[in-house]
Amino acid sequence: EANEMILAIETSCDETAAAVVQGGTTLLSNVVATQMDIHEKFGGVVPEVASRHHIEQMTVVMEQAMTEADVSFDDLDAVAVTQGPGLVGALLVGVNAARAIAFAHDLPLIGVHHIAGHIYANRLEQPFEFPLLSLVVSGGHTELIYMDGHGQYDVIGETRDDAAGEAYDKVAKALNLPYPGGPQIDQLAQTGEETYQFPRSYLEEGSYDFSFSGLKTSVINTLHHKRQKGESIDKANIAASFQASVIDVLVDKTFQAAQDYGVKQLIVAGGVSANQTLRKRLRDRFADSDIAVHIPPLYLCTDNAAMIGAAASIQYHQGDVADFDLNANPGLMM
Ligand code: KG4
Ligand code: ZN
Repeated sequence: EANEMILAIETSCDETAAAVVQGGTTLLSNVVATQMDIHEKFGGVVPEVASRHHIEQMTVVMEQAMTEADVSFDDLDAVAVTQGPGLVGALLVGVNAARAIAFAHDLPLIGVHHIAGHIYANRLEQPFEFPLLSLVVSGGHTELIYMDGHGQYDVIGETRDDAAGEAYDKVAKALNLPYPGGPQIDQLAQTGEETYQFPRSYLEEGSYDFSFSGLKTSVINTLHHKRQKGESIDKANIAASFQASVIDVLVDKTFQAAQDYGVKQLIVAGGVSANQTLRKRLRDRFADSDIAVHIPPLYLCTDNAAMIGAAASIQYHQGDVADFDLNANPGLMM
């Protein structure tokens, strides 16, 4: 039936999340327990600490998702979980919880790719129209993915080094800003100006790939020289200049690919799509085109389980279910 009820679980990084999604598009509950305050003390995610907290939170979060959705296990049609990519010890907690529930209640088990989840977060807000292009920008991924049908992912461009979110986090760290750095730089950049000319890497003519490590190094070197000379550091201007470089490249390449592939929709996904300037710049660039731009609300941009449930719905209808011995796969390919 198109109204299938899925309990979805996501534990790939530092959010313990569970959600109940009906028919792939209706969100009945969406619970996220973040560990950000814990990892902030370390300046980044400590994998073993993440696993331990997932273990503590998993059952509580799952129970809350079921209660808020007002459903019992008997109402479920499937259990879905992020299989990868991510931190293996973190993924295992969610995978084991999902396996136990699927086994105990004799439900189909669905293993979901984390990035498919980010993409399908958009379908909780808007129907997909194919062909579409998805720009995925997260802490671990920067990809342009062409889709001509549900569950059909053709990666046409990706980062050759750092992911966009990774560059944000590393530059933020160099600016002594707390983890995670993306939102901090987003905020700071609003009050700054582009007074520095940092590099923009477009790679070979016609390539849809990205590279952000040169930019990151350039910012870090600039900070290093300033500190050595005892000059004061105008964090807001550095943030604005760094961000302008990232966003120029993201917007230019995405627009070019969308035109070249003649898509109907642009779907933006992943934690960095929470960025205010990126959201605005993408909307502005596509405003005069006949390509519709969809960017999820902030709570669906960063890691959550609702997106896993939305992606799982497609797999459920395509019969793409896993065996009960489903294992976490930290390097899962799209
Ligand atoms: O998708 P996500 O929650 O987790 C991964 O799958 O990686 O993305 C997290 C990344 C982090 O690098 C974080 O700094 C970045 O998204 N991020 C942002 C913003 N909010 C989160 N980057 C720029 N601007 C933001 N507002
Ligand atoms: Zn993510």
